[in-house]
Amino acid sequence: MATRIVSTNPARLDHVVGEFDAVEPDGFVDACRSARAAQAEWAAVPAPVRGRVIANLGRLVEANFEALARLVTDEIGKPIAEARGEVQEVVDTCDFFLGEGRRLYGQTVPSEMPDKTLLTRRRPVGVVAVITAGNFPVAVPSWYIVPALLCGNAFVWKPADYAPAAADALFRLVRAAGVPDGVAHLVHADGATTFAGLEAALEAGLVDKVGFTGSTTVGRRIGELCGRHLQSACLELGGKNPMVVWEDAEVDLAVEGALFSGFGTAGQRCTSLGTAIVHHSVHDEFLAKLTAAVESAAIGDPTQPVLYGPMLDEKFAAGFEKHLDLVRGHHAVSGSTGVGRITGENPRAGFVGDPDAGVYCHPTIVAGVRLDDELANTETFGPMVGVATVGSFEEALAFANGHGYGLSSSIYTTSPKTAFRFQERVSAGMVSINNSTSGAEAHLPFGGNGKSGNGSRQSGQWVLEQMTRWQAVNWDYSGRLQRAQMDTMSITPDMAFRL
Ligand code: UN1
Repeated sequence: MATRIVSTNPARLDHVVGEFDAVEPDGFVDACRSARAAQAEWAAVPAPVRGRVIANLGRLVEANFEALARLVTDEIGKPIAEARGEVQEVVDTCDFFLGEGRRLYGQTVPSEMPDKTLLTRRRPVGVVAVITAGNFPVAVPSWYIVPALLCGNAFVWKPADYAPAAADALFRLVRAAGVPDGVAHLVHADGATTFAGLEAALEAGLVDKVGFTGSTTVGRRIGELCGRHLQSACLELGGKNPMVVWEDAEVDLAVEGALFSGFGTAGQRCTSLGTAIVHHSVHDEFLAKLTAAVESAAIGDPTQPVLYGPMLDEKFAAGFEKHLDLVRGHHAVSGSTGVGRITGENPRAGFVGDPDAGVYCHPTIVAGVRLDDELANTETFGPMVGVATVGSFEEALAFANGHGYGLSSSIYTTSPKTAFRFQERVSAGMVSINNSTSGAEAHLPFGGNGKSGNGSRQSGQWVLEQMTRWQAVNWDYSGRLQRAQMDTMSITPDMAFRL
């Protein structure tokens, strides 16, 4: 008997959003084998035609926009406005890559020989295994799936086990767009099964690329596994994203940015704000204004206009509660009428809806964060923002880089010099200037350094490096063997010449 994965609405736990059969490791391997068998034929479809399939997908997502957004809200509790933004990100990704079908440029390169031509061509990698988190259950998968297909790859996608219904909906849209049988696979499984299946599929030579979005801990294991098979995975991992608020910042703008990036999606984005690093001259003003904004924010039913809704799933509430233990005596906590879970017994003033129906957590601002606090160095993945005060730019950088992650970052300053100094020295793969740590656009490179990834980038033209491999072609039409480096023509200069 297959194990069933039951997905519940985290805002209304009595609402089952969907039920799906889970596979065993063999099922994962079988999907990879089927993908392997179908890939060559898909790769033989001209790229502009594959681009039309991506165009179809974009139009189908638009035609099903509201249904998909509502499903995202129902399944993971993201407020409907953000869910619509997420669906738009799928459309944007399709819009970018449909044109790539008519580019996928290679180069013509001059040869050192006469009657010889050099070319570079992009070749699909083959079978891509995609393993994704559920905080962006359709947008982030589309960052892998859309370019994978466009480049002529087949894929096997294993979505988060708490977001199978959104995955199923997107997958059905992919199939309806015209992706042939065997080229696209969706499998549901828990983490351990997926790892075992992936290991076996790599062992059997059935996977050529792994795309993984999730925790640093799991990303390390996947990176190690792929390394043993001489592959580099595309890894998008955690972050402790800093926001520097400098002495010349527009404080109100920074507060707005901190509210959105610290508490949007209940702080469960990879790009969520970790620590606001505030110049001491504006610290008290920033903290007071952020506290007021968080205290008065609407939190609750995600179908309503709220700042954030429930946690993605019960396990994230449990994880967040553990991270609250990192709050120490020297910290000052503010932002709500309680700490931890929001319930009838631990209420949040002004809560929208019934907190006991779902899994909700209080927003928590932790002021007085110091460089050596565990909180300054740990991704908390929940509605918690640390605030630190600094006096010098070097100190701000130590906070911004010291945790060893390097996904997103931001600085609020009206000085171009300060902005560029920060951009040059921050370790993050993404830097926002006078904008929050979240809100990456779908056609800029997305990815991080250090504990946030292995240097791979998604989105835009940059992800093509993940989904294709370069093939160098040299074509000699001279009719004789011309040996590179040895049979090259040489021209004699007069090196003694002086004016
Ligand atoms: C993620 O959290 O994995 O920049 C993706 C943002 C979104 C994507 C986040 N556009 O916050």
